[in-house]
Amino acid sequence: MKSTFFVAALAAVVQAESSGSGTDEPNWAEKIWNDATSAVTCAACEGLLGTLKSAAGLGQHALENILTDVCKLGKIEDDDVCEGIIQEQGTSAYYVLTHIDVGSHTSKTFCASITSLCEYPEVRPYNLTLPPRRPGTKRPEPSGQQPIRVAHISDTHVDQHYEVGANYFCSKPICCRSWDPEVDAPGNTSYPAGPWGNEQCDPPLRLEDSMVKAIAALDPTLTLYTGDIPAHDVWQANQTEVLLNFQSTYDNLGKLGLVYSALGNHDTAPINAFPFGKVPKSHTPQWAYDAIEREWSELVQNDGDASDFTSSYHEGSYAVNAQGGKLRIISYNSIYYYKYDFYAFQEPMEHDPNHQFAWLIKELDAAEKAGQRVWLISHIPSGHNDMLHDYSHSIDVIVNRYSATIAALFFGHTHTDQFQVSYTNYTTRTADTASAIGYVAGSMTPDAGSPTFRIYDVDPSTFAVLDYTVYTANINSTNSTEQEPAWTKYYSAKEAYGAQLEPPVTDPKAELTPAFWHHVTERFESDAALFQKWWARTTRDYNVTECVDSCQEEQICALRGGDAQFNCGSKPALSLPKRDGAVVQVAAKPPRPVCEDGGLPRVLSTLVRKTGGAGQLDQLLQERTAAYKA
Ligand SMILES: *[C@@H]1O[C@H](CO)[C@@H](O)[C@H](O)[C@H]1NC(C)=O
Ligand SMILES: *[C@@H]1O[C@H](CO)[C@@H](O)[C@H](O)[C@H]1NC(C)=O
Ligand SMILES: *[C@@H]1O[C@H](CO)[C@@H](O)[C@H](O)[C@H]1NC(C)=O
Ligand SMILES: *[C@@H]1O[C@H](CO)[C@@H](O)[C@H](O)[C@H]1NC(C)=O
Ligand SMILES: *[C@@H]1O[C@H](CO)[C@@H](O)[C@H](O)[C@H]1NC(C)=O
Ligand SMILES: *[C@@H]1O[C@H](CO)[C@@H](O)[C@H](O)[C@H]1NC(C)=O
Ligand SMILES: *[C@@H]1O[C@H](CO)[C@@H](O)[C@H](O)[C@H]1NC(C)=O
Repeated sequence: MKSTFFVAALAAVVQAESSGSGTDEPNWAEKIWNDATSAVTCAACEGLLGTLKSAAGLGQHALENILTDVCKLGKIEDDDVCEGIIQEQGTSAYYVLTHIDVGSHTSKTFCASITSLCEYPEVRPYNLTLPPRRPGTKRPEPSGQQPIRVAHISDTHVDQHYEVGANYFCSKPICCRSWDPEVDAPGNTSYPAGPWGNEQCDPPLRLEDSMVKAIAALDPTLTLYTGDIPAHDVWQANQTEVLLNFQSTYDNLGKLGLVYSALGNHDTAPINAFPFGKVPKSHTPQWAYDAIEREWSELVQNDGDASDFTSSYHEGSYAVNAQGGKLRIISYNSIYYYKYDFYAFQEPMEHDPNHQFAWLIKELDAAEKAGQRVWLISHIPSGHNDMLHDYSHSIDVIVNRYSATIAALFFGHTHTDQFQVSYTNYTTRTADTASAIGYVAGSMTPDAGSPTFRIYDVDPSTFAVLDYTVYTANINSTNSTEQEPAWTKYYSAKEAYGAQLEPPVTDPKAELTPAFWHHVTERFESDAALFQKWWARTTRDYNVTECVDSCQEEQICALRGGDAQFNCGSKPALSLPKRDGAVVQVAAKPPRPVCEDGGLPRVLSTLVRKTGGAGQLDQLLQERTAAYKA
């Protein structure tokens, strides 16, 4: 979330340069349509990359200065934020720009995923070495035994510098701090932040304390934590601060006993920067990996047993035997595949970053051979829009090969409450081809709705998910630091959706299978009211927009998007006329205001709304580069 400031800075310029007319915004779709037939092209993005390359040719320092100038001219962020963002992202941006070849698969992927001005290039074929299927391996039937409880927490983002009474309506990307004491300090603002958090801010530590207490009272057998510990003041993220945050949050989670964690894109400084492949080792945040390894191994051994690691920690991934060896939990580093990990844009792009796919296959195959079930846990949902298509596809191929062994996948990152179905065949998405289910938990940070966590009911023999209950707390319900907000049940999957199926699935012992979730998406197609309820639940009823017609279709398609190339959200915000003369498609609606992509929609909408954008940005960059040379 909100990890796109570097791009936002660039996009800001576009906005500044083209918003001087003073006229009202014309109709969105109409403007895109008009611009689509004139200025905006994939070539414009590639031209922009060329200009950025020339700026990088002047050296990293010059590149950073030019980009900082450009960001300040754009006036979308405060000057200190501009300076911080560019400085933070400068090293990875410089590395990528000095290596990228304009016109390559890498540059096309960059332009498609970052600016949406190009069509996404076809997924490159890559031969993953998959052992042949073992005959007879199939998804086990539920055991009927008494379920165990498993908690799932994600995206805590505690702000250690949260100040009660500070301005929650500030000029920075996150508020509730005395950024400018005259305006933001307690007593100097008419927008005083309450003691338990605010939608414009990351939460205070006391909210995390309160949530951990509420979860402990529910007595889970184990807890999954899918990452993102530090607050969103990404323009000043540093190692000291990140390490303090790791310690604080993992100490807190330790109160829950056994905890299995995954690496978030914010869990380093600068954020998102997890290099691999040809990038020199000096870029690797070894300090973050080392700290996480220390914290995680304590949490995994909280049952008093020295856990049985099948693979020890390696750059944010590990695998471990759990629950008496019947379950293998595999935590993989999804940030290698994230479009804002700029190090992914190598020339050529790696097929298997850090050989993690080969490792996943080895772990899954060993589990299958041993008759274990598997949970895959990771930060970014494997079919999400934020995943680079080549990598999302490879994960999907692996998940499909081992779909009988994988009981479920668990993710965070979106801050919204979601799920994700994978299929053996994406041109025929049916209950019969539904092959895996990913559970996406909402965030504790309240920027996309009330703080939340989930409790799953799990079959203790098959480790299949039988139901889950979402809990939330109303952070506005009390103004006292002494009185905690109540954490209450929000909805349960079987009540909210199982009861709506034909025939209903309400037996507490029945599994929520991939087919179950496909049936739920079918009900969403035929019942707009039920769909709208789901849509509201994604943000815990916060700031809910109407989502019908194409919005509804796209969301359902995304739920069926275990492979990102088939996730309708990843189509360009603006599809350009194809060379074969196919119909031009225009995104009908702006992205939802509080969105799963955080800063991205703002960037995209800026770029797209102000089309002509890449060209104008290019021109401005050229001017600044020339000025810098002079
Ligand atoms: C993948 O494997 C097949 C069969 O072994 C081979 O024909 C093909 O060239 C390989 N493709 C790549 C991209 O290596
Ligand atoms: C509030 O602003 C005044 C100046 O307007 C300043 O003197 C004071 O220190 C500020 N309050 C805090 C708590 O910083
Ligand atoms: C790291 O960030 C914190 C909080 O933003 C700041 O107080 C501290 O001075 C920074 N440390 C370094 C070494 O930059
Ligand atoms: C996927 O479904 C389509 C449409 O039914 C079918 O034509 C195709 O053969 C299927 N692909 C595979 C690999 O089964
Ligand atoms: C909570 O209070 C804040 C500020 O007082 C307000 O901006 C926000 O909309 C409220 N949220 C809810 C869910 O009522
Ligand atoms: C908390 O304080 C705010 C601002 O003074 C007020 O609007 C709100 O009603 C209070 N909430 C409660 C639960 O007392
Ligand atoms: C809530 O939604 C409205 C309109 O959909 C949008 O303008 C506003 O920015 C949103 N508020 C927040 C805090 O996201």
